[in-house]
Amino acid sequence: MRVLVTGAGGMQGRQVMLEYQRRGAEVVYPTHDELDISDYRQVNAATAKVRPDIVINCAAYTNVDNAEVEKEKAFLTNGLGPRNLALACREYAATLVHISTDYIFNGQAGHPYRIYDTPCPLNVYGASKLFGEAAVRETGGKYFIVRTSWLFGPGGKNFVDTILTLAGQKDELQVVSDQHSSPTYTADLAAALAHLAASKVYGTYHTTNSGITSWYGLAKKIVASAGLSEQSNPVRQKTFPGPPPGRHFQHWILFR
Ligand SMILES: NC(=O)c1ccc[n+]([C@@H]2O[C@H](COP(=O)([O-])OP(=O)(O)OC[C@H]3O[C@@H](n4cnc5c(N)ncnc54)[C@H](OP(=O)(O)O)[C@@H]3O)[C@@H](O)[C@H]2O)c1
Repeated sequence: MRVLVTGAGGMQGRQVMLEYQRRGAEVVYPTHDELDISDYRQVNAATAKVRPDIVINCAAYTNVDNAEVEKEKAFLTNGLGPRNLALACREYAATLVHISTDYIFNGQAGHPYRIYDTPCPLNVYGASKLFGEAAVRETGGKYFIVRTSWLFGPGGKNFVDTILTLAGQKDELQVVSDQHSSPTYTADLAAALAHLAASKVYGTYHTTNSGITSWYGLAKKIVASAGLSEQSNPVRQKTFPGPPPGRHFQHWILFR
C-alpha cells in the first residue's frame, strides 16, 4: 500500500507518517516546502508520481488568530487545498482522508456535537475549514472527513507544552474553565485515521479521545502528571482582555 501524507512537517502529519510506516506501508511524506497543497499543478503532479492508494491531508493553515487578517491565505490552504487533493484523488482513484475541526461549529450547542449537527463557524479559520469540507464532498471521489479537537502530541505547538513551559516560569497560572472539549493525542488519532481509511466506510466522522474537560482541567492534569506544584486557577474566558473577533468561543465542544 502506498500512502501520501501532506503537511508531514506538522504535529499530526508526523504521527500519521509514523503510523503508516509502522504498518509497513510505503509512505511519501512531503513537507510544506516540498508540496504546497494550494497549488493544483503541484498536487496533481505529486499524486501522478506517487500513485497513492490513500492520501492523508494533514496540511492546514492552523493559526486561528492570524487567519482573521490572512483570510486569503487561510482559504487557499484550508479551502482550495483539500479541493485540489480531492480532484487529484478522484483522477488517480485514491482515497482522501481529510482532517477537519471542531471550529466549524459555534460551540453553543450545549451538548456533544454529532455529525448531523449544523455547522456554523464563527471565525475565518472555521469558515475556511468548512469550505474545505464542502469542496471534498462536492468533488465526488472516495473520501473521509474526520473532525477532531484539541490536538496534542510531540513536535507541535500545543497546550501541553505551553502549560509545561509556563509552569516552569510562574507560581500561579490562570486558565480558562468555561470552554470544554475532548483533548486528542495525535498518535491515537493517527491510528484511528489508518483504521478508518482501511474500513472503506466513507463519509464524515467525529474522532477524538474519550472524556471531556476544560482548559483548566487539562492544565491541572498536565501539572500533576509532570509532578509540578504550580497552582492553576480557573478563570472565565471573558476575563481575558481584548480577544480579537472570532477567538476563544468554543464553549462546549465534544465529539463522540
Ligand atoms: N491542533 C489542533 O488542536 C487541531 C484541532 C482540530 C483539528 N486540527 C486539524 O488537524 C490538522 C493537523 O493540524 P496540526 O495541529 O498538525 O497543524 P500544524 O502542526 O500547524 O501542521 C500543519 C502543517 O501544514 C503545513 N502547511 C501549511 N500550509 C500548507 C500548504 N499550503 N501546503 C502544504 N502544507 C502546508 C504547515 O507547514 P508550515 O508550518 O511550514 O506552514 C504544517 O507543517 C489540520 O487540518 C487542523 O486543522 C488541529
